[in-house]
Amino acid sequence: MAALTVTLASVMAGATAGTAPATPELPYIHGKATEGATKSLVCSACHGENGNSVNPEWPRLAGQSAVYVAEQLRLFRAGVRTNPVMQPLAATLSDQDIDDLAVYYEAQTPSGLEADPSYWRGGEALYVRGYTGTHPKQASRNGVMMLDLAKRLTAEQIRDVASYVQGMR
Ligand code: HEC
Repeated sequence: MAALTVTLASVMAGATAGTAPATPELPYIHGKATEGATKSLVCSACHGENGNSVNPEWPRLAGQSAVYVAEQLRLFRAGVRTNPVMQPLAATLSDQDIDDLAVYYEAQTPSGLEADPSYWRGGEALYVRGYTGTHPKQASRNGVMMLDLAKRLTAEQIRDVASYVQGMR
């Protein structure tokens, strides 16, 4: 929790002052992938074996950056990122659990879901060229960018980008 508070505070301070936020502490580096493997059993019900989800409703975690996974779990736990499924789950995780899970998922190899050929080309164009502008408000370092960007996307554009990203390797 302390680490998250520092991260958010520095983001807010950076946003107000118009300066780059201070580099946050990276708590995940204390994680152990072997411990994460055991702790991930409950997660695999939705996120799949080794974090390779077979259901598009549940994000693939295999190969996802440990920084990102740890940050999202802290945001769910703090109630900053809201989701009826993940919030109660994250509330049961200790800092050590989060670090272990984060390094475990980063070490896994993504496989499975493919991009839908009827949508992904439009999504690729958006993904490569469409992401501009930042207006920091709240949430995580990356979240502030995504909040602003996501608001500008139409339902059709969201479908196209999702299909493109789903097929990325
Ligand atoms: C009952 C199904 C379910 C279980 C069990 C579950 N998750 Fe999730 N998880 C979800 C859903 C649904 C989302 C997407 C939430 C959203 O839309 O914000 C998600 C999102 C996430 C994200 C954010 C992914 C991203 O791309 O932003 C992480 C990280 C995560 N889960 C980790 C875990 C971990 C670690 C566990 C085990 C402790 C776990 N989840 C257990 C359903 C589940």
